[in-house]
Amino acid sequence: MSAITNAAAGAGDPPGSAGDYGFVVVASRLPVDRVDDPDDPDSAPEWRRSPGGLVTALEPVMRTANGVWVGWPGSAGPPLGPFEADGMPLVGVGLSEAEVADFYEGFCNATLWPLYHDVIVPPVFHRPWWESYVTVNRRFARAAAEQAATGATVWVNDYQLQLVPGMLRAMRGDVRIGFFNHIPFPGYEIFAQLPWRRQIVEGLLGADLLGFQRQSDTTNFLRACRRAAGLTTRGSLIRVPDPAGVREVQAAAFPVSIDTAAFGKLASRDDVQARAREIREALGKPDVVLLGVDRLDYTKGIRHRLEAYSELLDEGRLQSPGAVLIQVASPSRERVEQYRLLRDEVEVTVGRINGDHGELGSTPVHYLHQSYPREEMAALYLAADVMLVTSLRDGMNLVAKEFVACRNDETGTLVLSEFTGAADELVGAFLVNPHDIEGLKDTIMRAVTVSPAEARRRMRSMRRRVYDNDVAHWAAIFLDALKGSPHHQRQGASS
Ligand code: F6P
Repeated sequence: MSAITNAAAGAGDPPGSAGDYGFVVVASRLPVDRVDDPDDPDSAPEWRRSPGGLVTALEPVMRTANGVWVGWPGSAGPPLGPFEADGMPLVGVGLSEAEVADFYEGFCNATLWPLYHDVIVPPVFHRPWWESYVTVNRRFARAAAEQAATGATVWVNDYQLQLVPGMLRAMRGDVRIGFFNHIPFPGYEIFAQLPWRRQIVEGLLGADLLGFQRQSDTTNFLRACRRAAGLTTRGSLIRVPDPAGVREVQAAAFPVSIDTAAFGKLASRDDVQARAREIREALGKPDVVLLGVDRLDYTKGIRHRLEAYSELLDEGRLQSPGAVLIQVASPSRERVEQYRLLRDEVEVTVGRINGDHGELGSTPVHYLHQSYPREEMAALYLAADVMLVTSLRDGMNLVAKEFVACRNDETGTLVLSEFTGAADELVGAFLVNPHDIEGLKDTIMRAVTVSPAEARRRMRSMRRRVYDNDVAHWAAIFLDALKGSPHHQRQGASS
């Protein structure tokens, strides 16, 4: 393999000048949302902290390690900052309209996303999208290189930025680089379809430590290193040729989590509990409330879930108005074709179920194509009896963990797809193959009818897991491993 650093750098890279920050988080999104004043469009935008788990976990590290966050503000526009929002130093990477279309909607979400999620829909391989991915990744790498102090730690996140580690290493040989992939890493037979598979593997291998959600993702990546880049691996270590010898890069599983205590606390609030009761009353006080909460994404198995529910109603195993399904489907990637098609299909199906099984004043599916604040989500988690997570493929699925974190009284059951990262950890769930509609129906009925004692035993074990392994624990073990990674250790020239 050619030295990754030279291939990745490209013309016009900045010299290895050092910035001010000892810790740099690089993620496709900034951890804040822009809030414009509609009455005064010329006023400076305000920034409100977005509710993601990553920022909650990393904020304390950012403060103690003099950190900065480099990310995209979420819409086309020029670069921003450095600026401060909510006490956090931020750098906004600018993307043009064309780059939003080619990089974000194209290569990230119509090529990599379906490819990494087991080709549930066909990935599109389009050369100009790849070029845009290279250009934008280089921009992120430069922004990180400009901010990082000498010897800084840089943590790069997710599939949108897989070339950043290699590019950054070429610009700044002194920094320590970690990369975490929040989504699955596919089996080699699928990954091999990617025309740029070698460049992706080499880009990732610019890191000192690569983190994945599950052991199976790590194993898939190690195989890709051998097959796509011709490298040798030993256990979790990959031997990577380097201009000055050989580096060893480590790949391992670090299952991501949530701010468990914050969800538990939210769910114990009187107003949130009152809202949960209000939701059940608004639904007509049903016997069973089933709940699905997802981005409207084809990976989430929403159609499979609706089909199973619809058949349970057809067969009379569940009856409306005794049973109600709430499906929150938050808008996502709405300009990508497969997302538009999915929305049409889901909405037609919901309409059919409600037409077939509804009555005046009772609706079997409450479909909400909206996003909600955390308080409302916690109230929904409390209002539900059975949580349905039926993803066809999912890196982790944090909704499953949020539901568990909120059930302080140890009631409620979780139906969980075995194709989620969470399935490795939440062994108290009712695990299911969502492709098996008969199996899914039977599993939903088991979760609906389980004895309170068994439900409690299952919930207790899941809560223990989610409380012991929260997002702060995740960040701490990743950063500890990065600290101990064989940084720039020269191993001799042969591989
Ligand atoms: O976890 C996968 C992920 O793509 C994250 O990187 C991202 O923040 C989230 O899902 C939402 O996706 P998007 O940034 O495309 O809205």
